[in-house]
Amino acid sequence: MIEFKHVVKSYGDKVILHDLNFTIEDGQFVCLIGKSGCGKTTTLKSINQLIPIDSGKILIDGNDVSQANKAELRRHIGYVIQQIGLFPNMTVAENIQVVPRLLKYDDQQCQEITDRMLGLVHMESYADAYPSELSGGQQQRIGVLRALAANPPIVLMDEPFGALDPLTRDDLQDEIKNIQQQLNKTIVFVTHDMNEALKLADVIIFMDQGQIVQMGTPEEFLRNPANDLVREFLGKHIVDQTTPTKVEDFMRTNPITVKRTRGIHECAELMARRSIDSLIVVDNQKHYIGTVTVADIMHYGRTVQTIEPLIQNTARTVQIGEDAKDSFEYLLSTNADYVIVLHPDQTIAGIITKTSVAQSVAKNLWGEEE
Ligand SMILES: Nc1ncnc2c1ncn2[C@@H]1O[C@H](COP(=O)(O)OP(=O)(O)OP(=O)(O)O)[C@@H](O)[C@H]1O
Ligand SMILES: [Mg+2]
Repeated sequence: MIEFKHVVKSYGDKVILHDLNFTIEDGQFVCLIGKSGCGKTTTLKSINQLIPIDSGKILIDGNDVSQANKAELRRHIGYVIQQIGLFPNMTVAENIQVVPRLLKYDDQQCQEITDRMLGLVHMESYADAYPSELSGGQQQRIGVLRALAANPPIVLMDEPFGALDPLTRDDLQDEIKNIQQQLNKTIVFVTHDMNEALKLADVIIFMDQGQIVQMGTPEEFLRNPANDLVREFLGKHIVDQTTPTKVEDFMRTNPITVKRTRGIHECAELMARRSIDSLIVVDNQKHYIGTVTVADIMHYGRTVQTIEPLIQNTARTVQIGEDAKDSFEYLLSTNADYVIVLHPDQTIAGIITKTSVAQSVAKNLWGEEE
């Protein structure tokens, strides 16, 4: 666990970090994001003591980093700097072994680490190559491996993929996410690219002028951007509330309905067969009457013959032509499985489910414009 407690850092009379407070849990992938100059690199470097802070405390597993010894910190925290920073006169293997050598691991251990690291990104054949013989993406991979070499539980990465083309970046993002999950690392990853943060982060910390503007999951950012700057960063990812969103645009037609006179066993069997846990009940003219739940059938099924006594009128109904937004909000904020959409004559038009909500969000996020 990494804890920032009232961390302040200034250069001269310019305050760079204002009273930063946050906690990062073990195994989390955290993205620090914000405009150039907002203090991301400064925050990152204060964790491994490359930059000393003026006041406040940074604790790792409860221990103050300013009191830790350097070798201990190097073992504990891997670091990928903002430029790739491979040593040009060292081979790939030697680059990977920098920290293990500093920590005085023997030759055999260093060799094993190199093999294992290169294996992670399928670059075993490059051990003896020099950085200049590698592509940008390959160099970046080695930079990441070098940070992982001493098996640190925490890895700090400062815009590691910033200089790469979009496809290579995409591959490396997948790889790093994979490695993080496989090796269960805590990663603090600086980026100014919201796509990258949304893709990688368990938690995003959004900074502006040395302060945290918002901290939360990608989901929370998308749903509730804290201010205009965050909204600007999210850009096209924000769900457009103005696109046409009538209930009929999202409903599934032909939901399973039953008549009120149906027998208990028949209905229970139907629910089991269709893997649903409630049924919509209609009259002979197909007007909506109510719903029956599997829970009630199990509870009272022995005491009644038909579903009629078990019909409830608690399901949310809406009329064709209504805005879908309210239904979505209702589904997201309750345990309800669906909202029932009715024609003006009260017959069933369809249902909106949580899946409809997901599909609509997906369409807004990735749909038509790209
Ligand atoms: N050694 C220094 N002396 C004086 N000011 C500094 C020093 N290092 C950083 N700063 C200032 O601190 C602020 C934060 O810098 P930092 O490098 O943390 O920003 P950043 O968010 O990482 O930006 P970028 O996205 O451009 O990398 C900037 O205004 C920068 O000019
Ligand atoms: Mg920076």
